[in-house]
Amino acid sequence: MKHVQDKNLKEVFPANKPLKGIIKVPADKSISHRAAIFGALTKNKISVTNFSSGADCKSTLNVLRQLGIEIEYSSENNIIISGKEFKESSDILDAGNSGTTIRLMSGILAGSNFYSVLAGDKSLRSRPMARVINPLKTMGAKIFARENDTKAPITIIGSKLTGISFDSPIASAQVKSAILLAGMSADGMTSVTEPFKSRDHTERLLKYLNADITVDKNTISIKKTALMPKDISIPGDISSAAFFLVAGAIIPDSEITVQDVGLNPTRTGIIDVLKTMGAEITILNERIKCGEEVGDIKICYSSLKGILIDREIIPRVIDELPIIAVAATQAEGTTIVKGAEDLRHKESDRIKAVYTELKKLGANIQETEDGFIVHGKSKLKGNCTLECYHDHRIAMSGYIAGLIADNPIQINEFDWVNISFPEFTSTIENLLK
Ligand code: S3P
Repeated sequence: MKHVQDKNLKEVFPANKPLKGIIKVPADKSISHRAAIFGALTKNKISVTNFSSGADCKSTLNVLRQLGIEIEYSSENNIIISGKEFKESSDILDAGNSGTTIRLMSGILAGSNFYSVLAGDKSLRSRPMARVINPLKTMGAKIFARENDTKAPITIIGSKLTGISFDSPIASAQVKSAILLAGMSADGMTSVTEPFKSRDHTERLLKYLNADITVDKNTISIKKTALMPKDISIPGDISSAAFFLVAGAIIPDSEITVQDVGLNPTRTGIIDVLKTMGAEITILNERIKCGEEVGDIKICYSSLKGILIDREIIPRVIDELPIIAVAATQAEGTTIVKGAEDLRHKESDRIKAVYTELKKLGANIQETEDGFIVHGKSKLKGNCTLECYHDHRIAMSGYIAGLIADNPIQINEFDWVNISFPEFTSTIENLLK
């Protein structure tokens, strides 16, 4: 299997000037995965405008192709999906580095009438899969995996499923989506209840495609359902915009507008966190596209203060916590992140990664079981080589930290940025012109 190149050393120099300008970020990764998968499930031809340029979403396209779906690029980032019945693949389905691909596809393939094996890279093979395997088994799935059914590769012998009422112990959109997608081929009703609301792109896109789905607070229910073919347009990814929001807030005199960003309230925790820290943020041009809120976000350099980020908001900022840690180093006082133990099960152990790399840069940071504590404001000295742990968000967080460091830094294996944001460096360079 060929994945993102391993050896790549990126040099980052202190910005020494403000970041100014108007930018766009790649399409939302979570919505892109769902648009491709649900588009294929319509069993018709549909177009997806502004599909993510990241390697993760290409992993989803590749898995769909392996299952017999034709997908063509009509222009850069616009794809045409010719949906039809999935057919058994003659090879292992390669989800690459993508947790969303492997978990959502497990839900769909559990209810198929054929045999599949889902695998991925070293990071994906170390991530917890019991969280989807166990509820799928309760629905009647014949599903097996390494280490006592907890780790990929996952083997699935497609079978007849029955709906369940699943009380999820964690707020995870991947778990919720896997069960709801299995529910689309199961007999009876399938319901998932979460302790806190996780991102709801599955519910919104399925509703947009006329699925029989209902949402009642944190409980989502679905019945066997056929999807209506409709074209889909995807907004920019707020999780990618987050790097620029933090850069704009901490680099003196910066002023950045990120256009056409998804503003789904289950994803806007980064805006709430930065506002509570004291950042000057304005939302412009708010509108709805394919059932999702979209708008432009403007941020200006601001003096930040430390805050408490507690369990309830964690699902709305889960992917942004590494870059929030960088913001916290530049905030007066203490920032405490609690209830984020799932951060240890992302593309890397992000609690350990954030702690180790920011400490190396000179930050005053403590690691805790379920988060971290940052005492600001501290000078980041630079003059060191950061690791990114095969994790795109750690790589980009390191880069932004490098822009405010006193001396240049290097980042090892920076190519991992391509997982979600291949245009990251050129976007920064344009803001520095
Ligand atoms: C995602 C859900 C989240 C998030 C991940 C993308 C999704 O993971 O961290 O980057 O697209 O459903 P969990 O469901 O594991 O919380």
